[in-house]
Amino acid sequence: MTDQIADHYERLAPSYDDHWTYDPEYVRQFSRAITGALRLTPSDAIADIGCGTGLYTRQIAEDVQPRRPVLCVDPSTAMLDRVPALSSLRPVLASAEDVASGRVSLPDPGPLDAIVVKEAIHHVADRAATIRGLAGLLSDHGRLLVVMLPTTIPHPLFAAAHDRFEELQPDPAEIEEALAAAGLRTSLTHRTFHVAVDRERYVRMLESRYMSVLGEFSDDELAEGVAQFKHAYREDPVLRFDDHFVFLKGSVTRA
Ligand SMILES: C[S@@+](CC[C@H](N)C(=O)[O-])C[C@H]1O[C@@H](n2cnc3c(N)ncnc32)[C@H](O)[C@@H]1O
Repeated sequence: MTDQIADHYERLAPSYDDHWTYDPEYVRQFSRAITGALRLTPSDAIADIGCGTGLYTRQIAEDVQPRRPVLCVDPSTAMLDRVPALSSLRPVLASAEDVASGRVSLPDPGPLDAIVVKEAIHHVADRAATIRGLAGLLSDHGRLLVVMLPTTIPHPLFAAAHDRFEELQPDPAEIEEALAAAGLRTSLTHRTFHVAVDRERYVRMLESRYMSVLGEFSDDELAEGVAQFKHAYREDPVLRFDDHFVFLKGSVTRA
């Protein structure tokens, strides 16, 4: 993890959950979409890589009731410190690369039946090697799910943020290729989650750089972007938009 990304999440960690919990249905529905896509069962050994504060992992653990704790893996101490102390969740301080390369071993040495990487793959530098390494940790009925935004998004950001996002966001096709190159059977689906958020709350989300792309801007540039946003949405007390996600699943196929 670069220093810039580490600093970004250290600053964001205290407010991260607040940005999404104003609509508990959003987190619930999203977590259930992950549970459904991975077909999770209580007997699965599960890891959430780049789990952040475990906001979605908690809901998954509550719904699935896995017999072993879900491994909550993240390289940011500030984010991981906010994973609740529950017997169903076990925090692991490590990056996806650490786990994929074996530099950090997981506390439960057996193979994993399900791995989810939600909104973290864009932070991984060598994505093909990391996905290959993660695929190598799967059991013979293992599944690996990468959840990511597409390269263009309808979020009410300011123009420079959209441009920078499009430059930085990896193409889901690249991830699908990496899953296939790792020997997994792939499937790509699109999911949409409706967002309705008060404009003033969204201003606070922008100001706290709730998306990592906003960490690319200096304080002055961000203030200018927020001013553009306020002008563009001055007639809309509530912002409504569709949050589109790509779900890329790779499944182990028995020979
Ligand atoms: C946008 S947050 C997503 C957190 C969580 N998955 C969620 O959806 O709420 C991205 C997370 O990826 C983590 N991260 C950054 N670099 C990473 C890496 N190389 N491997 C795994 N996670 C990483 C960050 O610390 C952060 O917690």
